[in-house]
Amino acid sequence: MVDTHQNQNSVQDVLDYDRQKELKAFDDTKAGVKGLVDSGIVKIPPIFVIPADELSCEKSYSGSTHLQVPVIDLKDIHEGGVQRKQVVEEIQHASATWGLFQIVNHGISEDVMDDMIKGIRSFHEQPTEVKRGYYSRDVPKNVNFLSNYHLYNAKSANWRDTLSLAMAPVAPSPEEYPAVCRDIVISYSQQVKRLGLTLLELLSEGLGLRSNHLAEMECAAGHSLVCHYYPACPEPNRTMGTSEHTDPDFFTILLQDQIGGLQVLYQNQWVDIPPVTGALVVNLGDLFQLISNDKFISATHRVLANQVGPRISVACFFSNHMQKQLQPVNRLYGPIKELLSDDNPPLYREALEKEYAFCYVSKGLGNSALDHFRL
Ligand code: OGA
Ligand code: NI
Repeated sequence: MVDTHQNQNSVQDVLDYDRQKELKAFDDTKAGVKGLVDSGIVKIPPIFVIPADELSCEKSYSGSTHLQVPVIDLKDIHEGGVQRKQVVEEIQHASATWGLFQIVNHGISEDVMDDMIKGIRSFHEQPTEVKRGYYSRDVPKNVNFLSNYHLYNAKSANWRDTLSLAMAPVAPSPEEYPAVCRDIVISYSQQVKRLGLTLLELLSEGLGLRSNHLAEMECAAGHSLVCHYYPACPEPNRTMGTSEHTDPDFFTILLQDQIGGLQVLYQNQWVDIPPVTGALVVNLGDLFQLISNDKFISATHRVLANQVGPRISVACFFSNHMQKQLQPVNRLYGPIKELLSDDNPPLYREALEKEYAFCYVSKGLGNSALDHFRL
């Protein structure tokens, strides 16, 4: 008769062992989730399945229309423009309550947005042999194709592949970008950077600071384009496109196609962020919450897996720590002094961006790295 206790342990060991082995086998294909779908699977592999105990503590879904993510119209916001004061107030309110909003009339044309989505789709739909050349997990590169950045330290893998492109502060030479999307990536990047600077002015004013305060703090000095491909999923209710998380940057400008599935956590309920033609999604990241001393919040968000697809999205992360081969920016970020008073003491200690980034990566997706810096 086998000792049950011992037997249980060994079963657990086998399960754990298999999981590690399966993760590695999946990673080694360098073909991503799209590779699995192309091979014709009809059930998702166990590494993607969300554990039952996690599903049971699921927060509620608003499922109704009474909660709507703010959509802010940026026309007429030039300095002295009639709408500027009103728009600053809307951004201030959205940033303090949702940490996220959509923007329209932001100056990036629908043609450019469509071409960017098409370009990213073309990259992901190239033959696997071409994409494999870009696949890497260990060596930081300016151009990197990968499925699941947090593959080995997440409870379940996400139904998503990603192309990451470092753009600024130091622009790699154009030849480094994949030829299928090179031109549009460069032009989208220039436009989204300009928009990022405009948003920083509005956010500065929303905090009651001089317009150029946040730009001078170099909150938009660096940016990367993180270009996702979410293949159609045969069992969308058992996995996630992107697990719940906050972004590890100052702020993100997100371009999404018309498929949907993106949600934000608001008052402990998941609320859909519906695709709006011509709109971009803006969300604040952890570093913004830290420098604003909790005046503005970092939005918790996620992407559901979907029976239909592919869904394409491009997140432009504004931060300086993603170009790993550069000398790290040795600038300390803490709560902005002008926002502090006797009634509003600092809630965080100062930190280097790389300290924060290290903490974010080591905690894995979905665990707050911000708490680590809270006083
Ligand atoms: C992200 C993210 C959302 C999306 O890249 O951090 O949240 O719609 N992406 O892909
Ligand atoms: Ni995100």
